[in-house]
Amino acid sequence: MSFLEDAAPASPGAAASRMAWAKVNLTLHCTGQRADGYHLLDSLVVRAGVGDALHVVPAEDLSLTVSGTRAEGVPTDARNLVLQAAEMLDAGAGRGAALHLEKHLPAAAGIGGGSADAAAALDLLSAHWGVPLPADTARLGADVPVCLTRGPQRMQGVGEVLTPLSALPPCQMVLVNPGVDVPTPAVFSALSDKNQPPMPDVIPTFAGFSDLIDFLREQRNDLAAPAIAREPVIASCLEALSDAALARMSGSGATCFGLYANAAQAKAAAHRISAAALHWWVAAGPILAA
Ligand code: C5P
Repeated sequence: MSFLEDAAPASPGAAASRMAWAKVNLTLHCTGQRADGYHLLDSLVVRAGVGDALHVVPAEDLSLTVSGTRAEGVPTDARNLVLQAAEMLDAGAGRGAALHLEKHLPAAAGIGGGSADAAAALDLLSAHWGVPLPADTARLGADVPVCLTRGPQRMQGVGEVLTPLSALPPCQMVLVNPGVDVPTPAVFSALSDKNQPPMPDVIPTFAGFSDLIDFLREQRNDLAAPAIAREPVIASCLEALSDAALARMSGSGATCFGLYANAAQAKAAAHRISAAALHWWVAAGPILAA
């Protein structure tokens, strides 16, 4: 059974589904820049139990339809990473599949919505068509390789060097997005110091929630300052999460996360923030253990 598959495996050719869980960078250190302009990262990446769902049914031609709370403006043509992933996997063989994406994650939001969808498409169609995953999935996007995994990962290189970490202690997360799109390339270029310290060589195994929080407090998201300079409302999201044990921006923003020790606290925070900021996207869920 595949790591993205939450339902029982379907029989070959039958309808099947995958979840595309949000990707959250608990830390994101920028440690250098390559000659091609891409940035070297050191990041602790987890998946939140909040996501899109991708479904497939057999069909002659390849097609994509989209529904869901965040479907508006999502392309159903080759601009969508789901279809780019399908084309990459098909490699010109002309296989068909009718794909349907239930879109709930905001786009261009620092939580890997497009990359998680692409990874779900690769995993789903690889099983549906009976073809192996390609080696260079990072070509679709730097976050696609990490989105093909599920448990916590240390992500290095430009996103393609992955080291699985031990399961984290139980931890609940609230995600808050203020509804501004933050272009990743612009935030990276505005980062003044691109050679900042990495995380410690060894990431410890955390005995409990407070050990995890103590570790994370010593780490950073280096993209937060340039993202907040561009979109000051991100600072308001962090402020709204001030009752969390730790609040930080994910990826290049604008989504921020708050970590909570239990689901009741996380749900209460999510309700409070939704009620105060009606146009913000707010979601709560656990960090996925594995
Ligand atoms: O690979 P992806 O399309 O997700 O990256 C979007 C943009 O973010 C890249 O074009 C690049 O400008 C920037 N980026 C970067 N270094 C990374 C990942 C992304 O500079 N490691």
